[in-house]
Amino acid sequence: MPSDRGPSHLAAMKGDGFYNRHSAMQATGIAALLSLWEASCRTVAIGEGPVTVVDYGCSQGRNSMVPMRLAIKVLRSLSGPSVPIEVVHTDLPSNDFSALFEALASDPNSYMNEASDVFPSAIGRSYFEPLFPPQRVTLAWTTWALQWMSDSTIEAPDHILAGMSAEPAVISAVTQQQARDLERFLTLRSREMRPGAKLLAGFTARTADVTGWEWLLGELWLTLCDMKTEGWLSEPERKHLTIPIGLRTLAEIEQPFMQAGGFADLALDHLELFKLTDPFWEQFERTGDASAFAKHHADMTQAWCAPTIARLIGPSREPNAFVNEMFARFEHRLSQRPRPHEPYMAAVVVSKRA
Ligand SMILES: C[S@@+](CC[C@H](N)C(=O)[O-])C[C@H]1O[C@@H](n2cnc3c(N)ncnc32)[C@H](O)[C@@H]1O
Repeated sequence: MPSDRGPSHLAAMKGDGFYNRHSAMQATGIAALLSLWEASCRTVAIGEGPVTVVDYGCSQGRNSMVPMRLAIKVLRSLSGPSVPIEVVHTDLPSNDFSALFEALASDPNSYMNEASDVFPSAIGRSYFEPLFPPQRVTLAWTTWALQWMSDSTIEAPDHILAGMSAEPAVISAVTQQQARDLERFLTLRSREMRPGAKLLAGFTARTADVTGWEWLLGELWLTLCDMKTEGWLSEPERKHLTIPIGLRTLAEIEQPFMQAGGFADLALDHLELFKLTDPFWEQFERTGDASAFAKHHADMTQAWCAPTIARLIGPSREPNAFVNEMFARFEHRLSQRPRPHEPYMAAVVVSKRA
């Protein structure tokens, strides 16, 4: 197989603003984090000079508008009217940053609409690398990103998502990789945070028994199995199509903080797991329109994983044709067996020692 799994090969979300248009599930999770975020904004140490708010793993920005506006409002009330506030959005180099800047300029919900002395910018580099000079960041936000592994050579023979494999060797490799990634992310962020700074991270996680993704990604896996049976891909290709995502338990997230004094000058202030509701289920129950329900979920799934699948399937297979075929089949499967999609999300708040 070609070497398509190194850090420089991580794929971002589906471009041309597609992720912005199809990320209602992620918006539901963000809404559930807002009271925690507001409390973090109110209790952060502001210090001297400009205030820096960072949105790590921003994608195309639409889901960042509400939390960034809230942060600006609270920080403005604490710091006074004339203190400049910079908002820095970061993502992978392959991210659709044009959609982000377009949303900042023209989305009716843009936090820039009523802002003054607010300065947005962006960085296209993995957050598994240093992104800021030491002690620059006042407040940090990251949602729906930390489940992605940094660099995975893990191949699961029995699922499309690495973290949903039942193979002991795969489970062990994913757990170890996710532990290393979390520690690296926290170590790098700690260096960038000012004393008293806070970071809120919300990402999809799991209980010891379930992930909440069983229905949706089970159907995606069965779609691949059908395509293999019908000759669209070989067994090694199917195995190679493993999305590098792992779902941590709360105990795994807590692990680095178990030592006395916290981890890398960071204290764990809050850790919680909650189950999200399906943003489309109520409409489906009201209308019985299984096709519309399936399309919402197929588009939403495509928005976050189609570029990764296209990259893994490789150029010799006409990736766009393959992905189109795969998602048409997936949508059909979903319409035949609609279920509420109710993933789990971890909410984590850490603060830098003052
Ligand atoms: C599902 S999107 C979440 C976007 C937005 N934060 C939200 O909540 O809707 C995950 C984002 O994390 C980014 N991401 C994944 N790994 C990353 C890394 N190592 N460095 C920076 N961004 C990364 C992806 O490119 C993608 O834009």
